[in-house]
Amino acid sequence: MLDSEAMDQIKVAASQLASASSLAVITGAGISAESGIPTFRGEGGLWRKFRAEDLATPEAFRRDPNLVWEWYDWRRQICARALPNAAHEALALLESRMPSFLLITQNVDGLHQRAGSKRILEIHGNIWKARCTACKTKFEISETPLPSLPVLCPDCGSLARPHIVWFGESYDESLIQEAVSFLRQCDVLLVIGTSGMVSMPGFLTEQAFRAQRIELNPEPSGITPLVQISIRAKAAEAMPLFWERLNAG
Ligand code: OAD
Ligand code: ZN
Repeated sequence: MLDSEAMDQIKVAASQLASASSLAVITGAGISAESGIPTFRGEGGLWRKFRAEDLATPEAFRRDPNLVWEWYDWRRQICARALPNAAHEALALLESRMPSFLLITQNVDGLHQRAGSKRILEIHGNIWKARCTACKTKFEISETPLPSLPVLCPDCGSLARPHIVWFGESYDESLIQEAVSFLRQCDVLLVIGTSGMVSMPGFLTEQAFRAQRIELNPEPSGITPLVQISIRAKAAEAMPLFWERLNAG
């Protein structure tokens, strides 16, 4: 159950969206938490149990590619068992209603696509994809557990790596450019379930300078100072209510 303050914020946010034509959404690990996929920070977060520098850096992969692949394969199995939740589904519905829409996600789990979202920029990559360290070919790997390790390129047989942006690596500049140009003209920005502990979501939020900026997160985050409205609730509880409210007119 949502408290009355969260309900009030949802009403305000829905009325702002009702008169908007362009919506941008930024999502982080929190939107998939209720699907059973662990977040990175906070209670039960992956970075509480694992050291990122052992598993999610180019150095870690050079040192022990199989260890890195095993860790990603364990996470792939969690993602394969998970189902999109009501928040992923509400975003797919919102996309079908808005004349102009873009979803920018830090998540690599593929749940937005499975819920039916179409216009998605996956700025941290995708856990179901790999790419060759030699010829750079990108390919899908849907099987989990992986039949053999490490994963090899289907084209040239060289070592392949997860198609993920690791610590110390740069973003795909063309994806960021596309996100920035959309954000600069959008009417409403909704930021869901990100701690803002990496700098990109904060930077992106700041680009939406002419938008009503709304955050959905049960906890205060690095995004909170950058938005006008913070809805303090869980994504899969709040998003269906937001959608209902929008349609109630
Ligand atoms: P974090 O784990 O840093 O933050 C998750 C956020 O989700 C927190 O602010 C929580 O309060 C919030 N949250 C938890 N449960 C929620 C729920 N049910 N509904 C809504 N929000 C909820 O995850 P990110 O901000 O996504 O990068 O982390 C950013 C990046 O850091 C990740 O993409 C990952 C990590 O290192 C890579 O692996 C490349
Ligand atoms: Zn290759």
